[in-house]
Amino acid sequence: MRLENKKILLIIGGGISAYKSLDLIRLLQKKGSSVKVVLTKSGKKFVTSLSVSSLSKNRVFEEMFDEKNKGKIDHISLSRWADLILVLPTTANFMSKLSKGGADDLASTIILASNKEVFLVPAMNVRMWLHKATQKNLNVLISYGYKFIGPEDGEMACGEYGKGKMSSPRQILSFLEKFFRKKDLLKKKKISAIVTTGPTKEYIDPVRFISNESSGKQGYEIALELSRLGIKTTLISGPTKLTYSSDVKVKEVVSGKEMFEAVKKKLPTHIAVCTAAVSDFKPLSIKKNKIKKDSKITEIKIEKNPDILGYLGKNNRYKPKLLVGFAAETEDLIKNSIKKMQEKFCDIIVANDISNKEIGFNSDLNEVTIVDKSGKTQKIKKSSKKFIASLIAEKIVDTFLLNEKSLN
Ligand code: CTP
Repeated sequence: MRLENKKILLIIGGGISAYKSLDLIRLLQKKGSSVKVVLTKSGKKFVTSLSVSSLSKNRVFEEMFDEKNKGKIDHISLSRWADLILVLPTTANFMSKLSKGGADDLASTIILASNKEVFLVPAMNVRMWLHKATQKNLNVLISYGYKFIGPEDGEMACGEYGKGKMSSPRQILSFLEKFFRKKDLLKKKKISAIVTTGPTKEYIDPVRFISNESSGKQGYEIALELSRLGIKTTLISGPTKLTYSSDVKVKEVVSGKEMFEAVKKKLPTHIAVCTAAVSDFKPLSIKKNKIKKDSKITEIKIEKNPDILGYLGKNNRYKPKLLVGFAAETEDLIKNSIKKMQEKFCDIIVANDISNKEIGFNSDLNEVTIVDKSGKTQKIKKSSKKFIASLIAEKIVDTFLLNEKSLN
């Protein structure tokens, strides 16, 4: 079921493990998937176009500019056709090319133009894999959102032993089955989510406001990841400098009150993730005209903003099935975060140490610990907000599906 009618675009790279791609094509076909293959120039040195086309029962794509295929732009049409792109084997050289955004052949151009999930299956000598350059490229590729299958520990074609061995076709198959099972389940259940993000601006007069440095990036990346997993997601965002992709629906707001109203309008929702740095306080009233320097004003009266996460947690009628909060803390990170999780009735809290200026607010990097209701913690060391978002989204989805299962 899980792989039935799935469309897999397989890019065969240039490495000795390329021969295993033939076995994988056969296994995928047996499970009911359709497979189209792009054979790279170096891939052709290891497998022939004839064996690939006979097995895949499709023509094999090799050239960027194909005379036979007039009127069709292969790098776009193939990527749009696919449910998923798989690069097997992914060589050190191909990782290097992708990390720089290179697009000098059909395979790399497809990936750069793709709007689909891309899975890279590395295979190389252990020294090549562990080389600082490859590890640096690995981190860049993860931060771009590429997913990796393997490599495994084992004996390599060169006779050396270590990490670098390509995952076997069966391991890859089971990885893909798990991926599609989750995706299909989420699609079938028609899950909806809201994610709040960014700062809020609380105006004092027409030109002055109370706000903070939140960039909104972490929440935006989480919303993207949830949408990518097939969850109908709305991002409710305070004022940020982000350029939002059309992959996620965005509702822009300015003040905490507006954010609160926008959230309420979206209820009921299955999942709510509150990442926004809502200003805790707002002026009691907004002056209609700019406060002049020579005005006799000595104080600005403030009041509390609604606590959106707190409201969702206590909402008996519309409490989301899964509620995720963030905790911005400068001391006693885990202790304070757990306290917040309990006070606001969350299922998961993401503890964020904001005392480190190099990460968090306004940075592309973050370091967080995901804590769930059972007290289980998962620390994610300094990495890109995109990568962190993928792990948070995974935790959200897994917890949601587990809760659903225990209810049924
Ligand atoms: N939050 C919210 N609405 C608010 C304030 C906070 O939804 N008015 C949410 C945040 O989005 C976050 C969580 O509550 O998910 C915790 O926010 P944080 O700023 O860490 O804590 P506060 O609750 O504001 O408490 P304090 O500032 O005292 O730590």
